[in-house]
Amino acid sequence: MKVKEKALAGYLKYELKNFEKLPVKIWNDSVEASRHVAQSIGLAIRQRQQDGEQIVLGLATGSTPIKVYEELVRMHKEEGLSFQNVVTFNLDEYYPMPREARQSYWRFMHEYLFDHVDMVPDNIHIPDGTVPMDQVASYCERYEKLIDLAGGIDIQVLGIGRTGHIGFNEPGAWDSSPTRMVRLDHLTRHDAQKDFQSEDDVPYRAITMGVGSIFKARTVYLMAWGQHKAHIVQQAIEGEISASVPASFLQKHPNVKVVLDRSAAEELTRMKSPWLAGICNWTDDLICKAVVWLSQKTGKPILKLTDEDYNEHGLSELIIEQANSYELNIRIFNRLQRTISGWPGGKPNAEDSNRPERAKPAKKRVILFSPHPDDDVISMGGTFQRLVDQGHDVHVAYQTSGNIAVHDYDALRYAEFMLEFGESQKTLDETETKRLKKIIQVLRKKSSIDEDTTEVRNIKGLIRRGEARSGARLTGLNDDHIHFLDLPFYETGRTRKKPLGDEDIKIIMDLMDQIKPHQVYAAGDLADPHGTHRVCLDAIFEAYRRLKNQDWLKDCWVWLYRGAWHEWAVHEIEMAVPMSPQQLRKKRQAIFMHQSQKDRPPFPGDDKREFWQRAEERNRETAQAYRVLGLAEYEAMEAFVRWKPF
Ligand code: F6R
Repeated sequence: MKVKEKALAGYLKYELKNFEKLPVKIWNDSVEASRHVAQSIGLAIRQRQQDGEQIVLGLATGSTPIKVYEELVRMHKEEGLSFQNVVTFNLDEYYPMPREARQSYWRFMHEYLFDHVDMVPDNIHIPDGTVPMDQVASYCERYEKLIDLAGGIDIQVLGIGRTGHIGFNEPGAWDSSPTRMVRLDHLTRHDAQKDFQSEDDVPYRAITMGVGSIFKARTVYLMAWGQHKAHIVQQAIEGEISASVPASFLQKHPNVKVVLDRSAAEELTRMKSPWLAGICNWTDDLICKAVVWLSQKTGKPILKLTDEDYNEHGLSELIIEQANSYELNIRIFNRLQRTISGWPGGKPNAEDSNRPERAKPAKKRVILFSPHPDDDVISMGGTFQRLVDQGHDVHVAYQTSGNIAVHDYDALRYAEFMLEFGESQKTLDETETKRLKKIIQVLRKKSSIDEDTTEVRNIKGLIRRGEARSGARLTGLNDDHIHFLDLPFYETGRTRKKPLGDEDIKIIMDLMDQIKPHQVYAAGDLADPHGTHRVCLDAIFEAYRRLKNQDWLKDCWVWLYRGAWHEWAVHEIEMAVPMSPQQLRKKRQAIFMHQSQKDRPPFPGDDKREFWQRAEERNRETAQAYRVLGLAEYEAMEAFVRWKPF
């Protein structure tokens, strides 16, 4: 058979195939997606109102539905959407859990929704985390009956846990399970620690509606945002129905709508390897993605891929339409090769048409935005060092104080130091001594779930400032190039933050306008568990939009790094900055300056490794990925994608 015929035969073997067993809609981001869900709910509420009927909503908590609730509140305030005919049943509550506790779902629902709309209080049902243990079973039975008496749930809103749980139906739950008390999975407790500070404070149990209770709902919206959900979302949607992924039971429900943002959809076949799911619109980026995928799948360097490899892996369409494999391989190889550069600020006097950065101006003004005080060195410590060493005018801007992520015992140590130092130097007056003693007393008595006082927050913020300064100084920066922005949206003392406001954006705009950078580095790390990175990025994007008429902005390139949580995929990378073993060691030293984040930081995310280990392993993995594709072998690499705003 001729090459083209063979290719066609292979292509037909991979005819259009739908891997998804549930209807899925993918939105650009969670804001758009949430607005869509909220508007569907609003429409249903209004339709029932017109018919003079009630509507029963099943509601979830957690980070996923927050923007849906915010949009519903907006619709109530601005568009007169009334909730008088709405009856709600919440999925779950921790057990034991007093209503007023900061972490209770009762409080969550009131803070995000019920306190801002005109719900009839008696129509609100949330499992009660204070029922005595011996009455829980009968309480759960009553809860289930109440749902039936209300006519069953019309619209059920669901998030999905990384264990695949819906409600708190953890792996092992059965498909007809009713409302009951359950034990939380280790991973779920781990994820919940962001609200509790330490994992030990997270309750072991919860009361949850069962899979069977959820199944009785007439319409179900299953929502997921963020890359950290992508894996479990893929299993729930494309995998077999199995008790080990309770959300997969939804495949048996007649009316489920899955709503995802792009990151949560990343692992679906249509996104990850769309050529297996149907005919593709072969853009250059998609071709690059496919060739990298093929090389990884076959374990062969790009330049060794053959027509047969393309043919046998559903990519024959590529070599029919584009070229033969030889030319295609070279093209993609060159594209990847050109992303590697030891000159992140551009190579002076070099021909730059195939380089990631411009050669001119040879000395660039650079702002490195770091959402928390350690992201600069964790995520791009090697590149930071090169930029400084290569003579660019580098400024680092720490966007938030990072003050919630310091242990009380560290704050106590510093408070005691201040007191003892002041006493030894006889520089403290009576009021000052009293004040410090009070802070020390508060810190000694404080339990990890108590909120920090303003003074304690201040101390914690200063601890992180000192660490950030040391890290930046190690890289060679002068103090007048180190900026602490302390964006106000972050300053709640809790993991739950305020929405981004004009004052946050103005702070970023002022700095940009003052420095007029040629290059901006920002964290495009959207999988941060608290969303702080996302908000910090939005602040930069918005500042950009508002500054768009400034001349200097037209010559300002924005590079997005990722780091602590996950890395760009190889086919996405537009600049890969290599590091030698020595440079990697220096990066580690800069990360070590962040002493409060070593060993067990208060918010370690879902990774047991320390930040320096994650960073090094990630950078080594990137270098290894390049090597396996047949490119040069480096010790480690930091990766960037360019954001093209207009
Ligand atoms: C919350 C609930 C849980 C969450 C899930 C996802 O009421 O029942 O199933 O929906 O744990 O949590 P987030 O949205 O915080 O990722």
